[in-house]
Amino acid sequence: MQVVPRLAIEPMRYDDIGTVQQIEREIFISPWPRNAYASELSQNRQASYIVLRNNGVIVGYAGIWRMVHEAHVTTIGVRASDQHRGYGTTLFAALVQRAYDMGARWITLEVRASNLQAMRLYERFLFTVIGRRRGYYTDNGEDAVIMWSDSVQSPAFKRRYQDILSGIEVSGLGQGPPQEYLGA
Ligand SMILES: CC(C)(COP(=O)(O)OP(=O)(O)OC[C@H]1O[C@@H](n2cnc3c(N)ncnc32)[C@H](O)[C@@H]1OP(=O)(O)O)[C@@H](O)C(=O)NCCC(=O)NCCS
Repeated sequence: MQVVPRLAIEPMRYDDIGTVQQIEREIFISPWPRNAYASELSQNRQASYIVLRNNGVIVGYAGIWRMVHEAHVTTIGVRASDQHRGYGTTLFAALVQRAYDMGARWITLEVRASNLQAMRLYERFLFTVIGRRRGYYTDNGEDAVIMWSDSVQSPAFKRRYQDILSGIEVSGLGQGPPQEYLGA
């Protein structure tokens, strides 16, 4: 008998936008407007947006853009009542996989300086702080911390990613890092 994982990563669809926005309103000071998701899904061919479903119900979502050799994480969120269950890690792993699939060499992101929870998540994937944009967030004047992955092709990054993947049971995540570059 085939065991089907109850968790599934799927591409975000138009019909998901309402639920994604409901989650965003719970967890972000400044949620994106509805048309931002609609135009990302319909017009941005450099973008990949995903949702994580638990038994069909969306518990989180995330997005990433390809920008030449970099992939830029645009958003990630988990419903407030579903946090601390590994969903953020699962979504972030799925973004890393999409960065590989896009052929990106590095992954970058910005995070509010006060968001230690998110930074801890990124640090588990070996992201490090490389800079700060003062007063970047116009809603409260908060600084943005810029983090990046170093090379996602490096053995150290791939090992960590593979370790994290081994603790995740979800469908639709992908194949893992490209094997041809694995090595010492
Ligand atoms: C950042 C965010 C996406 C993380 O999502 P999450 O689902 O809570 O992430 P995880 O569960 O994978 O990890 C969070 C913590 O739970 C712990 N955890 C994971 N699985 C767990 C489990 N089964 N039982 C208990 N704890 C668990 C992790 O070890 C981690 O602990 P740490 O923060 O002390 O290192 C979430 O907090 C969020 O949506 N925040 C609001 C939006 C936001 O800030 N987004 C980022 C913008 S840059």
